[in-house]
Amino acid sequence: MAKLAVNVDHIATLRQARGASYPEPVTAAMAAETGGADGVVVHLREDRRHIQERDVRILRQVVQTKLILEMASTPEMIGIALDIKPNIVTLVPEKRMELTTEGGLDIITHFNNIKDSVKHLQNGGIKVSIFIDPDLDQIKHAHKMNADMIEIHTGAFCDAVTESEQEKEFARVVDAAKIASKLKLGVNAGHGLGYNSIKRFKGLNEIDEFSIGHSIVARATIVGMEKAVRDMLELVKAL
Ligand code: PXP
Repeated sequence: MAKLAVNVDHIATLRQARGASYPEPVTAAMAAETGGADGVVVHLREDRRHIQERDVRILRQVVQTKLILEMASTPEMIGIALDIKPNIVTLVPEKRMELTTEGGLDIITHFNNIKDSVKHLQNGGIKVSIFIDPDLDQIKHAHKMNADMIEIHTGAFCDAVTESEQEKEFARVVDAAKIASKLKLGVNAGHGLGYNSIKRFKGLNEIDEFSIGHSIVARATIVGMEKAVRDMLELVKAL
């Protein structure tokens, strides 16, 4: 049965939007675990737009399942990861101006840099996943550099508009999952997945774990709205 790792970046996005001390991503992570999440994911970006280093340090102390740190393959981030020691690091590409991670890491072009990072992190006792597009050559290179697992970028599938585009993109994900599994790489998948698109993965047993954030945080704001209003109304009525 596939597992679910929950990304709480966007709880931090809401906090940073106001420069407030709430909502607290650590509390959200605890709630995700209470809800049955198999892991907590955060992306510490170079520009610190949502998750802060302090969040990752506290999460390391309180997460009971596993802590997955998404980060760029840079000396600064490798140093932070080796110090905090998440259970897993997922290496992702990062561009300053992007709204969210755009595309997988090109580990063919950046083979030597990424290979060194994988080795450094593994020597520090951290498992390493690499976020790549569902592309055979990229998968072969992940295997070649001894990554523990890959995360297949599902963004193109999730963004596909027409049915034929969706079929084409999903077929790429299926092929990638099967090839990576044959190479004995762990296989995760994520980016853009929601409450409809996830249903398409039924029967694709090669995927060990899904990494999902935005759609879960978005739904939490809606399903929690009624109670949040009731709680405030109670206080207003008691004035
Ligand atoms: N996996 C990776 C590597 C990501 O960068 C992200 C976004 O932070 C996700 C999964 C989760 O994507 P989403 O928030 O769209 O569910």
